Amino acid sequence: MTTPVLEIQNLTKHFAVGTLAKPSYVHALEDVSFKVNRGEVVAIVGESGSGKSTTVRLIARLMEPTRGEIIFKGQSILKTEPKGATLDYRSKVQMIFQDPFGSLNPIHTIGHHLERPLLIHKKAKNKKELQEKVETLLTTVGLNPAAEFAGKYPHQLSGGQRQRVAIARALTVDPEVILADEPISMLDVSIRMGVLNLMDKLKVDRGISYIYITHDIASARYIGDRTMVMYAGHMVEGAESTDLMQNPAHPYTKLLLSAVPNPHAGLGKQTHVEIPDAAKRAEIPSLIDLPPGCPFASRCPAVMSLCHKTMPAVTTLSAQHWVRCHLHTADESLPLPPPNPPRVSL
Ligand SMILES: Nc1ncnc2c1ncn2[C@@H]1O[C@H](COP(=O)(O)OP(=O)(O)OP(=O)(O)O)[C@@H](O)[C@H]1O
Ligand SMILES: [Mg+2]
Repeated sequence: MTTPVLEIQNLTKHFAVGTLAKPSYVHALEDVSFKVNRGEVVAIVGESGSGKSTTVRLIARLMEPTRGEIIFKGQSILKTEPKGATLDYRSKVQMIFQDPFGSLNPIHTIGHHLERPLLIHKKAKNKKELQEKVETLLTTVGLNPAAEFAGKYPHQLSGGQRQRVAIARALTVDPEVILADEPISMLDVSIRMGVLNLMDKLKVDRGISYIYITHDIASARYIGDRTMVMYAGHMVEGAESTDLMQNPAHPYTKLLLSAVPNPHAGLGKQTHVEIPDAAKRAEIPSLIDLPPGCPFASRCPAVMSLCHKTMPAVTTLSAQHWVRCHLHTADESLPLPPPNPPRVSL
């Protein structure tokens, strides 16, 4: 078996809030573990505040985890680079953000944005080679004629074109993993698909792996080889995307899917997963004082008394499909789940 390009083990982040006299902690991420293989897109889906950005920001080494491990190609990054990432890790694991305008400097040309990392990482020997590399990158991301785009400023480009520049900038350093935090959610509906297709092409052509963050379960299904579902800082279910969409096991995944009746039709039309009213009305747990047990218990239509007491362990449903839910725990001493968990009505 080949080594995964990234392996995340028990990644946890508690943000200190409150005062010195009365400290408290936001439990943004709790024991998150998953792997990313070479040339694989792992989509992470969940509603606002579930910890998606915290996960990728920790992996990008933009902040320190409270505990856990980040293993890149078999090597523990936190042990080898305890005070931040080296240039090598930063170049191998690149991040693209939601707002392509905010991530580009309005006073510099597109060419300048690509030249800088090429120079820092010594990817060009002279000016001519630098210019050639810039133009090749722009062509790769579909910005033609490349020479013309190199001379433009960010405000002269559309949102989709700017996101393509952000992708080209990530490519300057030959990354192996791209962390894409909601890369299409601020783009016009008509150009979202083009950016996803570009990401997919780069995956196939260059073997790049992605962690793709989204609110939109339809786009997770479109581009994600596997999809993981997050709720209140926990990963609650993961599977190959088609399997997850067809056979969701966690009541929260079912809720997300029930709000997108036709996932294909949803792509590009629906950015945010709508949580049905019945579940919306239920109490969303505070990440500061998380009650014991499953964090979804307060909203779960199939809740049992056990759910308020202990966090369910991971149950493996098939080779790639796992879930953390007491409805699926194998322990026979546990109370049996109701035969037909109540359906969520929309
Ligand atoms: N620097 C911080 N200090 C305190 N709390 C934080 C900080 N950053 C994030 N959080 C909290 O951590 C939790 C997870 O935030 P995160 O940004 O990871 O969520 P998200 O899933 O990316 O949400 P969204 O979909 O809105 O982008 C939230 O409750 C958020 O308020
Ligand atoms: Mg976010």
